[in-house]
Amino acid sequence: MNQDELKALVGKKAVDWIKPDMIVGLGTGSTVKFMVDELGRRVNEEGLNVIGVTTSIRTKKQAESLGITIKDVDDVDHIDLTIDGADEISDDFQGIKGGGAALLFEKIVATKSKKNIWIVDESKLSKNIGSFPLPVEVIPYGSGTVLENFKQKGLNPKFRINEDGSLLKTDSGNYIIDLHLQEIKQPHELAEYLIHQVGVVEHGLFLDLVNTVIVGTQNGPQVLE
Ligand code: 5RP
Repeated sequence: MNQDELKALVGKKAVDWIKPDMIVGLGTGSTVKFMVDELGRRVNEEGLNVIGVTTSIRTKKQAESLGITIKDVDDVDHIDLTIDGADEISDDFQGIKGGGAALLFEKIVATKSKKNIWIVDESKLSKNIGSFPLPVEVIPYGSGTVLENFKQKGLNPKFRINEDGSLLKTDSGNYIIDLHLQEIKQPHELAEYLIHQVGVVEHGLFLDLVNTVIVGTQNGPQVLE
């Protein structure tokens, strides 16, 4: 199976965790897209009743086009379960997210969820996180200064750009600075530093949030807990 097939496998499998009448956080990304497709199928063909809370404009459009009922995160008093992708996951389930630039909404939804599940193909697992560039969402005003501060601290920052060379904007109109670190030895300390920098809105370190990971392997979906 190629990477897309592994993503499809776990995306489909993850829907087994969604029970009738749940309020479900729907993540963002190519793996989640498969999950949302399958959820839409079960809603339409099997009458599964759920409410979805989306984490990006992309996922919202997809879910609505499939007839999944969507509510705003502020209009639900809880979220039972969120299923999302990830860019890199360490042995102890610490993660980097934001490769799809949706980290801010993803973290808001994840922290409101009673349970979070990540769905990934096996290439996303590594002993320690950090080889995937760590996204940091910053407001446009003063973002050059934030970048310079990160540079001084040796964090190897780069603005994320679109194919046409313009600065990528998130669903909230912010920029992303990717930190090319190779390895993150102390993720909690780095998270603490980043969140306290003026102009930083959120970062892609998702720590202590997940205790179930569904991995697409050549032998089928594998559940890690
Ligand atoms: C978006 C994310 C995605 O979940 C992450 O990038 C994984 O995406 P994909 O399933 O396409 O590999 O964090 O902000």
